[in-house]
Amino acid sequence: MNKFLNKKKIILIIGGGIAAYKSLDLIRLLKKYQCEIKVVLTESGKKFVTPLSIASLSKNKVYQNIFDSNQEAEMDHITLSRWCDIILFAPITANSIAKLASGKADDLASTLILASNKQVMLVPAMNVRMWLHKSTQSNVNKLRDFGYLSIGPASGEMACGEYGEGRMLSPEEICEYVKNYFFERNVVKNKNLTALVTAGPTKEYIDPVRFITNNSSGKQGYEIANSLAKFGVKTTLISGPSILKKPENVDIIRVETAKQMYEETAKVLPVDIAVCVAAVTDFKPDRYEDKKIKKKNININLNRNIDILDFLSKRNFQRPKLVVGFAAETNNVLKFAKEKKIRKYCDWIVANDVSNPEIGFDSDYNAVSIIYDNKVEKIERNLKSFIANKIAKKIINHFIY
Ligand SMILES: Cc1cc2nc3c(=O)[nH]c(=O)nc-3n(C[C@H](O)[C@H](O)[C@H](O)COP(=O)(O)O)c2cc1C
Repeated sequence: MNKFLNKKKIILIIGGGIAAYKSLDLIRLLKKYQCEIKVVLTESGKKFVTPLSIASLSKNKVYQNIFDSNQEAEMDHITLSRWCDIILFAPITANSIAKLASGKADDLASTLILASNKQVMLVPAMNVRMWLHKSTQSNVNKLRDFGYLSIGPASGEMACGEYGEGRMLSPEEICEYVKNYFFERNVVKNKNLTALVTAGPTKEYIDPVRFITNNSSGKQGYEIANSLAKFGVKTTLISGPSILKKPENVDIIRVETAKQMYEETAKVLPVDIAVCVAAVTDFKPDRYEDKKIKKKNININLNRNIDILDFLSKRNFQRPKLVVGFAAETNNVLKFAKEKKIRKYCDWIVANDVSNPEIGFDSDYNAVSIIYDNKVEKIERNLKSFIANKIAKKIINHFIY
């Protein structure tokens, strides 16, 4: 797998923590795998490791100050960000985590990250209470929501003499993680994986101004499309009405009704992966009045609507290799979701409890169970972006291994 690191350009930012000494070994390992490394050292980082050691190991200049570029026409934070494939911040301190979460740009490291569109990987290291502090946890969650990857910390004895979560991962573990990152993207690229994701609610019109719909915001589906695209999957998002912004590198088709969503889904086939997150309105009025109905008592008959998950799963021709459905339930969540999986013939079903106001439809948070084969895998309450990343990674692994 080492070939996946060959000639990869990595910016390593070293922050001011005790674990900084391990980053010297990390440089040595990454160099062994033929990576090109440029190191940015924070002001506090300099107290723990010397620029001379870093320059000797990385065989490159060490970048220390936002204003110390040799050439006046060049700005290090921009040139470095353009140059690299990924930015690895190891160790990242509680201070730098807070700084990144608030969008500050008061040194080279934070300015470079703010100016970059490359994948940022954080490797935190700190005292257990600093790590478990609500402030640090909320900042890390925020950074995950920005799309940064955070790995570790591990548990164990610490330099401060305490025991617990907060140790920086070992250089070998970090290298393995970086290798996997490039390996997964390489496989996805070579396989030319394609996906369609449906998201949001649908609207079923009674007359030109009135309709039936539901509370779905589209957030979970948009995040899944975003995560799949980040893994390099060519992703099309078919979205019901939603105010959300199109995720980067995702093709979007906006629709209103279930019928339009179904028609657009059929047009996007064939794809390798279909993830049906949309809360397609289950019922639709049996007729549509093309003039606004006058104020009076009326009866509306509702019929079952088109079932897009069913349509995808039961196809003989051009069935996606992996069909993932979502089951939003208010009671007996796992039981109903398992029954839905069997009824719909989908490969996986992701169940969530929409009766809980802390998660579900309009919240930024979710908690889900993925049901596949005869197994149930729980993902505890977390940001929808975090849950999306977990689901996307599981999908990618399904195609790799
Ligand atoms: C001896 C010593 C060890 C420290 N170790 C850590 C650490 O492991 N993790 C951490 O978050 N902060 C640690 N700090 C505090 C940081 O150095 C401090 O918050 C600093 O402002 C971080 O700057 P930076 O984020 O720009 O690197 C330590 C401070 C000292 C004096």
